Amino acid sequence: GTPEDPYVVGMSQCNLGEPWRAQMNDDVRKAAEKHPNIKVIFKDAQNDSLVQRSQLEEFVNQGVDVILISPKEAAPLTEPVAKAFHGGIPVIVLDRALLKEEYTSFIGADNVKIGREAGKWVAETLGGKGNIVELKGLMTSVPGQDRHRGFLEGLDVKAHPGIKVVFEADMQWLEPNARKEMESALARQPKVDVVYAHNDPGAHGAYLAAKQVGREKQMKFVGIDALPQEGVQYVKDGILSVTFQYPTGGTEAVDMALKVLAGETVPKKVTLATKVFTHDNAATGGQAIP
Ligand code: FRU
Repeated sequence: GTPEDPYVVGMSQCNLGEPWRAQMNDDVRKAAEKHPNIKVIFKDAQNDSLVQRSQLEEFVNQGVDVILISPKEAAPLTEPVAKAFHGGIPVIVLDRALLKEEYTSFIGADNVKIGREAGKWVAETLGGKGNIVELKGLMTSVPGQDRHRGFLEGLDVKAHPGIKVVFEADMQWLEPNARKEMESALARQPKVDVVYAHNDPGAHGAYLAAKQVGREKQMKFVGIDALPQEGVQYVKDGILSVTFQYPTGGTEAVDMALKVLAGETVPKKVTLATKVFTHDNAATGGQAIP
């Protein structure tokens, strides 16, 4: 790779329409700009796994030097990733895990841990008693599954029999869906104490639904992502009570691609750290979770 003839990195993003994913692409772009020996080609699958699959095949046919992918769903993308990898193209998977580890490396935060921290926060805040609405991320994606499982662990309803999840729905990571599901939850449940949404857009959609019927002050909203201009701002504005940072890994992915291109060996898995943002610490950059 030289500035005249750079290495080509293909970056496949599952849905650029979501703010967190636009941030990931920005992080990749900014990191790559410092290295004129690589050039990144971005593709947006617009939230369609089959489109993402064919975009991956285009990268392979084109003979890119490295593939970065943040896959929409685990099942439909496991085989195409494995095929590219076994065909000799290094593949770095970002944020959403696949069903097999047939790729060069995975970079992402620990979603079970984030879910567990959210569950512990809710159990403590409720003082052992209360009604919860859980708005799940897409359950065919691993972060949704992990954030659900971790949450139940952290909540520990066996130790807190007064805590109940009274409504749960899959809002597929999307704010408009979360808002609609929350409207149903509110219509059915006269008492809701906490809404746990698997991402900040979901938590914000739920807040808007509650506000529309004048009930937003009766409950606390918990989210995940903590983008400065999104979740952290919601916490500062008093819309969310807490959000957990989900770093994009974009910068780390470019650093790793450079290492792979230089023939260095890289770890099979990189786990990114998380932080918690509450009203008390949001202005000072949140608090690291060990
Ligand atoms: C964006 C997003 C984030 C979430 C992540 C999980 O598509 O929904 O809000 O944290 O994906 O993979």
